[in-house]
Amino acid sequence: MSKIKKCLFPAAGYGTRFLPATKAIPKEMLPVLTKPLLQYGVEEAIKAGLNTIAIVTGHGKRSIEDHFDISYELEHQIKGTSKESYLTEIRSVINACTFSYTRQVEMKGLGHAILTGETLIGDEAFAVVLADDLCDNDGDGVLSQMVELYEKYQCCIVAVEEISPEHSNKYGVIAGDTINDSTYAKDSLVRVNDMVEKPEPQDAPSNLAIIGRYILTPDIFDVLRETKPGKGGEIQITDALLEMAKIGKVIAYKFNGTRFDCGNVDGFVEATNYFYKKRK
Ligand code: UTP
Repeated sequence: MSKIKKCLFPAAGYGTRFLPATKAIPKEMLPVLTKPLLQYGVEEAIKAGLNTIAIVTGHGKRSIEDHFDISYELEHQIKGTSKESYLTEIRSVINACTFSYTRQVEMKGLGHAILTGETLIGDEAFAVVLADDLCDNDGDGVLSQMVELYEKYQCCIVAVEEISPEHSNKYGVIAGDTINDSTYAKDSLVRVNDMVEKPEPQDAPSNLAIIGRYILTPDIFDVLRETKPGKGGEIQITDALLEMAKIGKVIAYKFNGTRFDCGNVDGFVEATNYFYKKRK
């Protein structure tokens, strides 16, 4: 059995809900306290043992590449001063990983962004992190939990959380049968047999919504190639995963931890307050 080593970060979206901030700055580079969202995601990946970082960028996203690179001028300027310590964390991230990039030329949706990343992933299972979903907990990170689950079940895994029904139209919502596994909390594993992208509350198959953490097997790329644009005219990863679910190859996992939707202002402010309190 081969271990998961690669983590894909789709980061090409326009971030329209954060305009005008995201006009010239990628949403994934917005900072919660002093760290960009994307760095939190990469740190979570490193903790899960995934050190090969693949990022799908797009027009106007060059600051992402600069962030995960050495800035010799800056380093030289603050060398030997007390300010040097501010760079310790990002330096250890850069040293721990290899980074590769590809560009999504047309923003045709998350499924399309993941398919664009195939060139960086190849024929192996991989993780996907949407950096605007910021996750935190004191034990193992969400991705670490999912990697462990993958090692046991060897199929696609989606992280889910319970939502109130009125929010269903912001998420992919799943349904399926509970898997009884004594290693995991009761009802925390579901063998998925239905998935709907952004259903209205009356059409939602359950209250379990997919958040921005996935483990995918490489056969997803062939499915994505055949996936037609769905909700919003975009190629949806949910539609591709439904095909995999029909043959029993998707597990939904109710993860341990807290998650903030930093793709909207409310979630971003909540995350900022949470990490500020935690740091104090
Ligand atoms: P979102 O839908 O949350 O991001 O996609 P968005 O489209 O940038 O945001 P809004 O809705 O306009 O405010 C989740 C993740 O998928 C990436 C985004 O960059 C984000 O990290 N994404 C989305 C792509 O890389 N390409 C796409 O075509 C769409």
